Amino acid sequence: MQLLDGKATADSIKKELALAVKLRKEQGKKIPHLAAILVGNDGGSLTYVNAKVKTCDLIGFESTLIRYDDSVPEEILLAKVKSLNEDKSIDGFIVQLPLPKHIDEMKITQAIDPLKDVDGFHPVNIGNMVLDLPGFLPATPAGIVELISRNGIETSGKHCVVLGRSNIVGMPVSIMLARNTTPGNCTVTITHSRTQNLVEICQSADILISAIGRPGFVTKEMVKEGAVVIDVGTTRVEDSTRARGWRLRGDVDFDAVKDKCSFITPVPGGVGPMTIASLMINTLRAMELKGK
Ligand code: GUN
Repeated sequence: MQLLDGKATADSIKKELALAVKLRKEQGKKIPHLAAILVGNDGGSLTYVNAKVKTCDLIGFESTLIRYDDSVPEEILLAKVKSLNEDKSIDGFIVQLPLPKHIDEMKITQAIDPLKDVDGFHPVNIGNMVLDLPGFLPATPAGIVELISRNGIETSGKHCVVLGRSNIVGMPVSIMLARNTTPGNCTVTITHSRTQNLVEICQSADILISAIGRPGFVTKEMVKEGAVVIDVGTTRVEDSTRARGWRLRGDVDFDAVKDKCSFITPVPGGVGPMTIASLMINTLRAMELKGK
């Protein structure tokens, strides 16, 4: 078994980005500027957004964090999105999901200028992804594909089984790995809550990607000998041995599965850091696309 070390891979990407920023500074060019909108106080979302801002600082990007209370009206959020669309100093921005129930996530996503949509969630960017046209790829799937690519894993002709069909991970990663690209050219099966014979389907996976947020759901029995296992789950579970009282747990029963597979991502330190690295790549591209 080889660990797919997302943290180490993301660290190399961050070094490359920091160098690009340094060169831009030396040439008197603009520095990328990412803004993030966070609504409410969900612990997970706060951790992710803080990590995004911290990464901007680390690699030399500018960043702006905009926070709202849980009760913020949809119109206020839409107005902020509009003002960020028009703000020439901002190259790209994200609205951290999920949003409170009274806010229509798709309405907010659709209000973002596709050229500033560094999360790649706008229908225009999803369409570009499907058609393999230039655009912004969603950060988590892009991070998974980059992790596969930078670790020399062959995908062509392989059977990839994806657990979960979310707009953020399951759906886009399925499309990206099925495209006629490298990495890509997989035969992809998307599975979800209505899938029958899930265990048998998973057993035939050369590449198994789980993005369902159910700790320990993927058991040893579901994994083929020599498979590549990518765990996107990051659920907080109680852990009294930690000072903060919790730890992150993936969808995969890591200890039981690790000796059966060829590659496996840890949680934390697997897909998470790659998501942030991909967001930074998109932000640099957003700025470059505007000829800045
Ligand atoms: N919530 C979970 N993952 C993501 C992500 O990649 N971007 C945003 N905006 N929200 C998320």
